[in-house]
Amino acid sequence: MSSETTDARVHVTFELPTGAAAELAATGLRTSVYAGPTGEPRSELLQNVQGASGLIALLSDRIDAELMDAAGPSLRVVANFAVGYDNVDVRAAAERGILVTNTPGVLDNATADLTLALLLATARRVVESDRFVRAGNPWQWEPDLFVGLDVSGGATLGIVGLGRIGMAVARRAAAFDLRIVATGSRASSAEAAALGIRPVELPELLASSDVVSLHCPLTAETRHLIGAAELRAMKPTAVLINTARGPIVDELALVEALRDGVIGAAGLDVYEWEPAVSPGLLTLPNVVTAPHIGSAGLATRERMGSLAVQNVAAVLAGQPAVTPVAVHA
Ligand code: GLV
Repeated sequence: MSSETTDARVHVTFELPTGAAAELAATGLRTSVYAGPTGEPRSELLQNVQGASGLIALLSDRIDAELMDAAGPSLRVVANFAVGYDNVDVRAAAERGILVTNTPGVLDNATADLTLALLLATARRVVESDRFVRAGNPWQWEPDLFVGLDVSGGATLGIVGLGRIGMAVARRAAAFDLRIVATGSRASSAEAAALGIRPVELPELLASSDVVSLHCPLTAETRHLIGAAELRAMKPTAVLINTARGPIVDELALVEALRDGVIGAAGLDVYEWEPAVSPGLLTLPNVVTAPHIGSAGLATRERMGSLAVQNVAAVLAGQPAVTPVAVHA
C-alpha cells in the first residue's frame, strides 16, 4: 500500500457480506461502518463521510454534490454496491475528481434468474394460484382453472435494452424456445444473433411481444420510457417484467393499464417511488411483486461486496479502478 493510503478511511454505509468485510479488513485501510438497520440516515451519513477517502454505498444512498462536499477533498472513490448507479451524480463526482465504480458482471445470472422467476410466475399465475389454494377454496381439475399465457414454444419475448443482464435473460429464454426480439446496441451483435435475437425498434418490440422485459439503465432518456402510450401499444395479453429500475415505467399509468385490461399482467421487482409501492398495484390479482431482490443470491452479494472493496482498494493505492463507470459528456 502506498504511503498516501496509510491514513485513508473508507466509510461503508451498511454491513458488507462477511467475505467482503474480511477482504476490506485485510487491506489495512481504516474503516467506519454504519451498522444500524439498512439505510444510513442522511444526517448521519453526511457526518460520517467527513474526511473519508473512500465510500462504499448502497443504491438507496443518494450520492450527490452535497454529500461529496460534506466528505471534503479527501474523497477519491465512491464504490456503488450495485450495477445501476442512477443514485450517484457522476458529473458532480467527475468535477471533484472522484472516481465512481459499480458492480457489473457479477449479478447478471442472479438477476436473470429472478427475471425468469417473475416471468413464469406472472404468465402462469403461480402466485394467484398459491393464494387461491391457501385460502381453502374448493377446487378440482378444470379446463379453465388459472389458465395463463403459454411461455414455451411460440411466445415472443421483447428485451428492452439488451446488455449483460438482458443477454443472460435471453440465454434462459432460448431454452424455453421463446422467440426473442430486443432493442439496444448489442441487439445487433454476433452474440445476440447466435441466440436467435432479432434487433428491432421499441414500437415493433411493444407491438409484437407477449412478454416485455426491461433491462436498460435508468437515465434521463429512459425515465418513463414505458408510459400510457407504450402500454397501449402492447398486446392486451402482454406481460411486463421490470427487474431494472422503477422509474423506467410510469407506475400510475401501469396501475391503470393493469386495472383496465390494457395489458395482461406485470411482474415487478422495482418501483417508481421505492421502497413505496403504488397501493393500486397491491390490490390487483394480475401483479406479482418482489422487494428489489434481483441480485439477492448469497454468492452474488459476496461478489458484489468483493468488487466494491477491490475498487476502493485499487483507487486508494493509486491503481486504476477495476470497474469504473463511464462518464458521458
Ligand atoms: C440492483 O438493482 C443493482 O443495480 O445492482
